[in-house]
Amino acid sequence: MHGEILRLFRGFCFICGEEIDRSNINAIGKIKHMSAFYREKVLSVRHWTDTLFSFRATRDTGFRFQNGQFAMIGLEIDGRPLLRAYSMASANHEEELEFFSIKVADGPLTSHLQKIREGDIILVGRKATGTLVTDNLLAGERLLLLSTGTGLAPFASLIKDPDVYERFDSIVLVHGCRQVSELSYGEELVAKLRDDELFGPLLSEKLVYYPTVTREPFRNRGRITDLITSHQLFDDIGQPPLDIASDRIMMCGSPAMLGELRQLFETRGFTEGSNNEPGHFVIEKAFVER
Ligand code: A2P
Repeated sequence: MHGEILRLFRGFCFICGEEIDRSNINAIGKIKHMSAFYREKVLSVRHWTDTLFSFRATRDTGFRFQNGQFAMIGLEIDGRPLLRAYSMASANHEEELEFFSIKVADGPLTSHLQKIREGDIILVGRKATGTLVTDNLLAGERLLLLSTGTGLAPFASLIKDPDVYERFDSIVLVHGCRQVSELSYGEELVAKLRDDELFGPLLSEKLVYYPTVTREPFRNRGRITDLITSHQLFDDIGQPPLDIASDRIMMCGSPAMLGELRQLFETRGFTEGSNNEPGHFVIEKAFVER
């Protein structure tokens, strides 16, 4: 918290760059706002492929979020905060935070972020937000979680949420990638949850995990869009075809994939849900840095 004498420039704090609510300036001109970010310590980093890594960090007890939401996270670079929207891959009941990220060699943030090590400090925005939350969906029976690439992250959080298993009879987690190696993070996550004392029984009763690959041989092959329109997905998992009466959908991935899926569902009468009004499906773009 800043106790410094007021130093403002057009409503922004000179010390941390945060926009300041003027009601937080007291009579003698002292700023009493909190910094816009938590400064969290990196606890571990895992590199999954040349283009994917995940990391865990400490979590301030004041940082609250709903499973499926995202926050601005990043690093202080040359004295300035550089942040991007990242979904929490950890669940809100976990003590630590986890994030799943791509690496882009010349990406403004990820070129630095991919080099973080245990003990480094990351910035985490105080406010979490996002549309991939169960309250934005109408009541239903089957929940389809459709993701490509790092779009898996919000679903990593949601499949660790007991409330999701309460609300739905069946949860189908689909993760589409180009190569088999890109599935490792999700495969390990699901395998660990299956061994978990609390989640093991919930997963075996309700969760179907369906990884699919487009550019090399694998047991499941093809784009999510094609797998749905051809009914292959439902045939493979031995479940009934798409049904607006019972299916609710969350999607997170590349803009192209989301655009096609949106069209696919809308032409079948599904409506998009939002924080104002629940619907049959909700959408979030996966973080992309070019
Ligand atoms: P494909 O290999 O046929 O392009 P990316 O790494 O480009 O984000 O892609 C991740 C996965 O999403 C890949 O399997 C890719 O398939 C698939 N994908 C890309 N564009 C679309 C789309 N418009 N609809 C469905 N799947 C897509």
